[in-house]
Amino acid sequence: MSSLSTQNYKGSRDYFPEEKRLQNYIFNVWHKTVESFGYEEYGAPLLEPLDIYLAKSGQELAGEQTYAFEDRGGRMVAIRPEMTPSISRMVAAKRQELAMPARLYSIANFMRYERPQRGREREFWQLNADLFGVDGAAADAEIIELSHASVMNFGAKQEMFTVRVNNRQLINRLMSQFLKLDIVGSTMMMKLLDRKNKIPAEEFKRQAIEIFGTQASEGLPKLAKMISMKSVDDLPSELANDDSVKQLREVMKLLCQKGIENAVFDVTLMRGLDYYTGMVFELFDNSPENNRALFGGGRYDGLVGLFGVEPISTVGVGMGATTMQQFLEVHDLLPKLKSKTDVYIIPVSKESLVGADDLARKLRNEGVRAELDITGRKIDKQIKAALKKQIPFAVFVGEEEIASGAYTVRNLVESDEQKVGAERIVTIVKDRRYDGDEDALFEL
Ligand code: HAM
Repeated sequence: MSSLSTQNYKGSRDYFPEEKRLQNYIFNVWHKTVESFGYEEYGAPLLEPLDIYLAKSGQELAGEQTYAFEDRGGRMVAIRPEMTPSISRMVAAKRQELAMPARLYSIANFMRYERPQRGREREFWQLNADLFGVDGAAADAEIIELSHASVMNFGAKQEMFTVRVNNRQLINRLMSQFLKLDIVGSTMMMKLLDRKNKIPAEEFKRQAIEIFGTQASEGLPKLAKMISMKSVDDLPSELANDDSVKQLREVMKLLCQKGIENAVFDVTLMRGLDYYTGMVFELFDNSPENNRALFGGGRYDGLVGLFGVEPISTVGVGMGATTMQQFLEVHDLLPKLKSKTDVYIIPVSKESLVGADDLARKLRNEGVRAELDITGRKIDKQIKAALKKQIPFAVFVGEEEIASGAYTVRNLVESDEQKVGAERIVTIVKDRRYDGDEDALFEL
């Protein structure tokens, strides 16, 4: 038999400690950020009935991108491609018991059958933060503020990214009243606008003409005019008093009050998912090297109601860990992350293993992360292992050290040595952690 392939599944990633450290760093900053807004963590199943995605997530996600299959009992299930339908189902199930408004978050993995490319994987991780039970601009602005903070808390500056905001109801009005499209034409135009920056201008025009059909000569200039609207004030006057425009103005005003200076109205921002009913937004990376959407979300007031209960006003966001990582890389915001292990304990002879084992236990009980070399190999090999693992301290344990209780501690970064007792090892380790170890700063 030929040997098995070590290749991971297409579009998925292996996370060795180095990659996992980085991912955990991102997750830790996110946990801290959303918890600082009072959001509480939940968990949800990996598999859900396929129906919950077919209902409102849209043809692309539910029809083409789900990993769907029949389970052994004949039920059609899907590996979750997103969290929004799951958390809506959960909130619908516990509607009476939950304290409202409910601020909920989770960090979980998802699968979508997509063509893998930069920032697009088949298995990816997302932070989802959703606010259930509040209608209106204050809730919309809170979710945008939380998303904004989820980038700023990595040390980012506002000029590094842009928050683009739009409103689904306004989009519907523009499609029907301004561009005079029917339902089918509107849906197609929204999908086309969603892809505007991903296709050549000529192709965009060709498809727009197709959608307008016989009305193309009036439709095209209007579409061009619509795309050129850069502020809420540029919107057609007949829409000025529309609820959606009022809400949009209110959201922008609140964002300004919150000190968010990089939020703009973007009439072309559609968001691909069908369930959005009001405000929609995306965060974009401004770097020319990574000019893409980082995360997105919006208001979806109709989803909870699909589960047979009174509808609940809801707004939320999904933030991808990979797009976040790429943003941090491009803007040079990633700290140098090292192993979390504090000391590597090196027994200098076979006889000193028991004493070294005792020391390891003693240190662990004091909160030190101590790895013990139990191989019995030569000392230089043990030191090499500690260096390769980037562990900051090596502690040498021999018969003499065990008898005296004073151990040789070598700082593997600075190469100096001192002979100290177990208690002192604890303080040395903790002082180092305190001295600017980024990981420690964001420890939960
Ligand atoms: P989404 O726009 O499909 O929205 O995904 C949100 C974010 O998840 C994306 O901007 C990206 O950061 C990340 N993401 C999505 N697909 C992939 C992928 N294939 N590879 C890597 N990252 C990916 C939603 O999922 C909505 N459910 C968000 C939401 C929550 N709306 C309201 N609440």
